[in-house]
Amino acid sequence: MSRSGREVLLGVGGGIAAYKACDLLRRLQDHGFLVTVVPTPASLNFVGTATWEALSGRRVLSQVWENVHAVPHIHYAERADYIVIAPATADLIARLAHGRADDLLTNIVLASRAPKLIVPAMHPEMWLDPATVANVSILRERGFLVMEPDVGRLTGADIGPGRFPESARILERLHEIVGRSADLLGRKILVTAGGTREPIDPVRYIGNRSSGKQGYAIAQAAASRGAQVHLIAANCELADIQGVEITHVETTAQLEQSLAQYFLTTDVLVMCAAVADAKPVQMSNEKIKKNTLLRIDLVANPDLLAQIARQRVSGQVIVGFAAETENHLDNARRKISEKALDLLYLNDVSGGAIFGSEMTHGTLLDSDGGALNISEVSKDSLAHVLLDQVVTRLR
Ligand code: CTP
Repeated sequence: MSRSGREVLLGVGGGIAAYKACDLLRRLQDHGFLVTVVPTPASLNFVGTATWEALSGRRVLSQVWENVHAVPHIHYAERADYIVIAPATADLIARLAHGRADDLLTNIVLASRAPKLIVPAMHPEMWLDPATVANVSILRERGFLVMEPDVGRLTGADIGPGRFPESARILERLHEIVGRSADLLGRKILVTAGGTREPIDPVRYIGNRSSGKQGYAIAQAAASRGAQVHLIAANCELADIQGVEITHVETTAQLEQSLAQYFLTTDVLVMCAAVADAKPVQMSNEKIKKNTLLRIDLVANPDLLAQIARQRVSGQVIVGFAAETENHLDNARRKISEKALDLLYLNDVSGGAIFGSEMTHGTLLDSDGGALNISEVSKDSLAHVLLDQVVTRLR
């Protein structure tokens, strides 16, 4: 972080909405931000360097080949507290998603750890094209905050999602990011994700449908807010998160062991993993032949969360998850008190809709009886809402 904490790098992509970014720049300055503009070379067809230099009062570069002796991509990356890319075209989003570094802006993005807000603007067909959808999803997985464009009239006669949002809406999102940007600095957070598996024999196991996406989103969000994050991942096929230490486990016993290793020194535990409630009494070392696979004797696994919560030290915050298909609230309230939790996110998993999905809906409950309804949001957004509550409790 720079000393001011107000340095914004405004990246401008090559779309007609580049002219609206002039107003955004002004509004950013009205809100006390210090803005450096880095336009892509293509965007200069719409708004030229002279305009950006006059409005920002700062030198404006767009290629890595300018001012080389000052190594601008590293200098700008280090100075930026926040990166706002507005407008982001389909091409720019694709280049960012694939880690390209073919102009100054994309070099800076790769070199910077600052929170990044992407404001897409393009024709609806391009926004809805599967390639763009996939690229946006990659960026969101990596912690970029990608706004939804407005719905309305575009440059031609077409109408749909793709319009550049009003400056006020962009500033609102930026303020959300600023408000939470470093509120977990110096805190240790332990997150479990995925689902444990209990081997039956060398080829079969008892498992569950948890993908790990929610746990990864929480780990990513906590890291972006300054926390030192340790993620225990049970059978997740998800990309590693930069700056997050990950321990991979398979069985409940391995998860139990890792929890015991890291719990006492953590400030927060978020127990997102779906733990197999039972395991075969004995694992067969040989593949069981189908004609003898008629029943499996099971033994209960310990409740890891209830067990570890009994060892809590003062000041720790413990968050559980509940997957319910009936009597949701009653069951969830019972789990909060039986497991001695501070917060619990109740997932309605009827029909299995949430598993593997990018979206979630449910209820965030606290130990004081409070309840917050969460209607259809991205798992990344839920992560931040949940961490907001954690931050309040840590205080
Ligand atoms: N949990 C745990 N160990 C278990 C089972 C669950 O630590 N053996 C944790 C989960 O990580 C989650 C919370 O307890 O944070 C609730 O999990 P859930 O599956 O909803 O509830 P269960 O306690 O397993 O109860 P039930 O299956 O009867 O709903």
